[in-house]
Amino acid sequence: MDLYEYQAKELFASHGVPTLPGAVATDPQGAKAVAEELGGPVVIKAQVKTGGRGKAGGVKLAESADEAQTKAEAILGLDIKGHITNKVLVTSASDIAEEYYFSFLLDRANRNFLAMASVEGGMEIEEVAATKPEALAKIAIDPIEGVDQDKAKEIVSAAKFPAEVADQVADVIVKLWETFVAEDATLVEVNPLVKDPEGKVIALDGKVTLDENASFRQAKQEELVDKAAENPLEAKAKEKGLNYVKLDGEVGIIGNGAGLVMSTLDVVAYAGENHGNVKPANFLDIGGGASAEVMAAGLDVILGDQDVKSVFVNVFGGITACDAVANGIVQALKILGDEATKPLIVRLDGNNVDEGRRILAEANHPLVTVVDTMDGAADKAAELAAGA
Ligand SMILES: Nc1ncnc2c1ncn2[C@@H]1O[C@H](COP(=O)(O)OP(=O)(O)OP(=O)(O)O)[C@@H](O)[C@H]1O
Ligand SMILES: [Mg+2]
Repeated sequence: MDLYEYQAKELFASHGVPTLPGAVATDPQGAKAVAEELGGPVVIKAQVKTGGRGKAGGVKLAESADEAQTKAEAILGLDIKGHITNKVLVTSASDIAEEYYFSFLLDRANRNFLAMASVEGGMEIEEVAATKPEALAKIAIDPIEGVDQDKAKEIVSAAKFPAEVADQVADVIVKLWETFVAEDATLVEVNPLVKDPEGKVIALDGKVTLDENASFRQAKQEELVDKAAENPLEAKAKEKGLNYVKLDGEVGIIGNGAGLVMSTLDVVAYAGENHGNVKPANFLDIGGGASAEVMAAGLDVILGDQDVKSVFVNVFGGITACDAVANGIVQALKILGDEATKPLIVRLDGNNVDEGRRILAEANHPLVTVVDTMDGAADKAAELAAGA
């Protein structure tokens, strides 16, 4: 889960990383009130979960509270790379002597953590990495040893931070590592980390991605979820405990086992090339022991997706054999009744497949077509989606 900048900086502050005071506003009057409270010049910053806000006109300086109101008015509603700005952060402005870059991230390719640091911060780090790779220090972090003062000093000298900020930056790095570990983050990024004219080091921006696999032990992070911005289908699926991801195609997908579902997405996309380029509408893994209730819950979410024109149910009978799955489908269609409105292509294979197919044939539901092979079923589902 990605956090908004203001949430990231609240986490930073709670772990002792220096940030500037500020608060979020959802309307121009609110922004003015925050600016009045802060006093002095402020910066109004669009709170959207995407980068490059400054370039898009989403970060503006205001000298007075009245100006904060007009600037907030200009930023609220702004479309930044498809993200509409509903909130702004109003924060004290700082004069900037130097801008640096710092991040910790999960380095999947090397199965490790990585620190990246540069004294050329402020601008897009991808650009620094591409044009001046020597200006971006990359230091692997041993997950067992973590980052203590010594490791932080090693990072500081690898990135060639100026001597007068070295101790402060090392201190910030240790605290960012504490944030990264304590919050179960996969990314903690500060761009820019600045030195102000008095020589004080401050995190002016913050980007944090939390690892949702750790949410079971991070109960208080539940408050960080932006319910209003969540995809309603994904939210519904989450409530039902389903492993669902919304995609932008037309063929609804249900399968058992993440690997099977991923291959199903591939075969449907491939089959779709012959049928007006229809694509999978979602990922949904109902898992090994799928009961009728789980099948019904999954179908309910998928049939509630207006983009879905046909549904491909792809099941490999293992511990839960095909007859149980077939009964599950029949029961699920009974539970859903009139809410089931779109054609279902069912492919069953594996344990007890003959009995499973017999059950579906006997039920003879008008929406259900059984196809024996995965490729054949994908083709049929794509054809029906294209024709709908
Ligand atoms: N509180 C502040 N005081 C003074 N200047 C600021 C402040 N916050 C940001 N800035 C300036 O605005 C620039 C852009 O801000 P910021 O890094 O937060 O947004 P961004 O980089 O455009 O967005 P993103 O990080 O999403 O790409 C900073 O590099 C800094 O120069
Ligand atoms: Mg930035």
